[in-house]
Amino acid sequence: MPAQIVTVELRERSYPIYIGRDLLADPALLNRCIPGRDLLLVSNTIVAPLYASHVVAALGARRPVEVVLPDGEAQKSLSVVARVIDVLVANRFGRDACVLALGGGVIGDLAGFAAATYQRGIAFVQIPTTLLAQVDSSVGGKTGVNHTGGKNLIGAFHQPSAVIADTRTLESLAPRELRAGLAEVIKYGLICDPEFFAWLEGNLEALLAGDPAALAHAIRRSCEIKAGIVRRDEREQGERAHLNLGHTFGHAIESATGYTGWLHGEAVGAGLMMAADMSQRCGWLRDADVQRVRRLLERAGLPLRAAEVTPAVARDFMSIDKKAMNRRLRLVLLRDIGRACVTADFPPSALEATLSAHFGEHR
Ligand code: NAD
Ligand code: GLY
Repeated sequence: MPAQIVTVELRERSYPIYIGRDLLADPALLNRCIPGRDLLLVSNTIVAPLYASHVVAALGARRPVEVVLPDGEAQKSLSVVARVIDVLVANRFGRDACVLALGGGVIGDLAGFAAATYQRGIAFVQIPTTLLAQVDSSVGGKTGVNHTGGKNLIGAFHQPSAVIADTRTLESLAPRELRAGLAEVIKYGLICDPEFFAWLEGNLEALLAGDPAALAHAIRRSCEIKAGIVRRDEREQGERAHLNLGHTFGHAIESATGYTGWLHGEAVGAGLMMAADMSQRCGWLRDADVQRVRRLLERAGLPLRAAEVTPAVARDFMSIDKKAMNRRLRLVLLRDIGRACVTADFPPSALEATLSAHFGEHR
């Protein structure tokens, strides 16, 4: 089956997202998508042994310099970006060089940030290999790293030149990682596409079983939704914040647990549940719809509460959220399934009740 193409329309910075099976075995596609003579391939110790040789073989004489990092969210730090930049400098790469990010969202965010900052910005191509990266992090140009004070606090908007999502790579992904990626897929249905949410309810088992057609549909629809939002609001002045549904709660879980224990997608899944719960407490979402959200997340095998984080600690981390304005917390909540809103206008008691119900030990 030929690759499906979704375009992120951003005038002169528009780029294609290729979605398909065995794209890494297509040298013509890779060579078409990857600009530049000097190439730096950034990957990690899990992904590089599986897939770097495909990319290197396809590029022939344009043999990339490789940086293979340890695995894990802890790599998303300024010191690791400095290491990557050291390699670019050591190889005397110029402004026409290109960075290839081969891996999940950690590699994409980190390598993208190195590309965004080296010589004030060089080209990069995303080659995402997790479901989460194929549906979300590789698209839209948010790059960056964590600070001990909070998640993704350092970063830049820098769009890739292309995204190459080879769905075959998902076959080596751990089931837990696939489930974490599904949280971001469910997010798209919740924020703006009730039909897609219903499709997910009907096709969740196929997705969990790794059915290629179901996965291709979920990835394509997710990328179409994200591409549309990024086209309308690249720099997150408004609508793009909807993509953060569940993330203020989720980032608090990740930060409070030191980026260990919880996967990003798992924290987002719990955050989606909290956003739905709070939306109901605000009087916006019907009980039956909250139960639909709960059932889908449970069927996806996602954890729905963070017993190890107290509500006070969660509140503290939430206060540093990037959506805050005039130091006032703004949250993405739901008016309905398929209709998100960003608001600071919620009863504080609703937030407190949601935090008490989902953080800390059950009393
Ligand atoms: P990840 O990059 O840590 O990958 C998850 C795990 O899967 C890792 O152990 C990785 O080595 C392994 N892996 C990757 N591909 C594999 C494959 N094909 N086969 C076997 N193992 C494989 O995590 P993730 O869930 O992909 O991404 C999470 C990160 O993405 C977080 O840092 C999050 O903040 C970021 N993110 C960014 C954006 C954005 O817009 N930039 C959006 C969402 C998430
Ligand atoms: N994942 C949130 C965004 O790209 O805006």
